[in-house]
Amino acid sequence: MTVALITGASSGIGTVYARRLAARGHDLVLVARATDRLKKLADELRGEHGVSVEVITADLTDAVQLAAVTQRLRDDPPIDILVNNAGASVSGGFSDADPAALENLLRLNSLAPTLLAVAVLRGMLQRGQGSIINIGSVLGLLPEYSHGIYAATKSYVLTLSQSLHTEVGSKGVYVQAVLPAATRTEIYQRSGGDISKVPDVMEVDDLVDAALVGFDRRELVTVPPVPDVADWEAFEQARMVLARGFSNARPAERYRV
Ligand SMILES: NC(=O)c1ccc[n+]([C@@H]2O[C@H](COP(=O)([O-])OP(=O)(O)OC[C@H]3O[C@@H](n4cnc5c(N)ncnc54)[C@H](OP(=O)(O)O)[C@@H]3O)[C@@H](O)[C@H]2O)c1
Repeated sequence: MTVALITGASSGIGTVYARRLAARGHDLVLVARATDRLKKLADELRGEHGVSVEVITADLTDAVQLAAVTQRLRDDPPIDILVNNAGASVSGGFSDADPAALENLLRLNSLAPTLLAVAVLRGMLQRGQGSIINIGSVLGLLPEYSHGIYAATKSYVLTLSQSLHTEVGSKGVYVQAVLPAATRTEIYQRSGGDISKVPDVMEVDDLVDAALVGFDRRELVTVPPVPDVADWEAFEQARMVLARGFSNARPAERYRV
C-alpha cells in the first residue's frame, strides 16, 4: 500500500484524483477547507475501494494550517505521492486588485505547493522513491489570455516542477507538471467567472484520466488537450536554442552603443 496526499480534494480535479488513486489501491490523505465534502468523499472511497482515508481540514493560505499539512508530509505512514492541486483564481486585473486577495492567491497557488513539496522530499529521497504531481495551467504559458496574477502563479508551478525535477529526478523522485486548459469544475464560479462563456471545456474525468496516462509514462510535463506532443517538444527545443545565447560575457551586438 502506498499513500497519496491530495490538496484541494473536496471538488473538481482533486476529487477525481482521489477517486482514481483510490481505485488504484492507494491509501489517501485528503486536504481542503470543506470538511463535510472531504468526509463524504472519504466514506465513498473507503466503501468502494477498501482503502484507508485520512482527512485534514486546512486553509493552505494560513501559515499554521499549512504547517499542519507539511508536518503530516514528514510523519508516518510516509507519503508516496503528493498531488499539489489546490488552487484558485481571483476576479479582476492588476489595477483593481485587492492586495490581500493577491497575497492569498500567491500563498495558495505558489507558496503552498512549494512548501509541501519541500516537506515531502526528504522522506522520498531517503526511500529513493516518490512522486510529486503539480497542477499548473496552460495559462502559465499564455498570460495574454488571463487577467491579473493567476497566469504568473501557474507559470511558477511549471518552473517549480522543472527545477524540482532537475534536482531530484535522478534520485528516484518523479515530478510531473500537469497543465490543464479549461476544465469543467467549480473554479470559474468561485472566482466570479461564467463557464458557459468558455469554449472547448474539457470534462474533469477526461482531464485527470489523461494526466494519469502522462503520470504512468513518467512525463515531466503533461498538457492533456495538446493533440501532438511534437508541438510541446518543439516549444522545449526552442527554449534550448534560445538558451545557447545566454552564455555570452558581452551584451549582444544590438545593445552595444
Ligand atoms: N478548471 C480549470 O479550468 C483549470 C484549468 C487549469 C488549471 N486548473 C487548476 O486545477 C486545480 C484544481 O482546481 P479545480 O479546477 O478543480 O477547481 P475547484 O473545483 O474550485 O477546486 C479547487 C480546490 O482547491 C481547494 N482550495 C481552494 N482554496 C483553498 C484553500 N485556501 N486552502 C485549501 N484548499 C483550497 C478547494 O477546496 P475548499 O474550498 O474545500 O478549500 C477545492 O478542493 C487548481 O490549481 C487550478 O488552478 C484548473
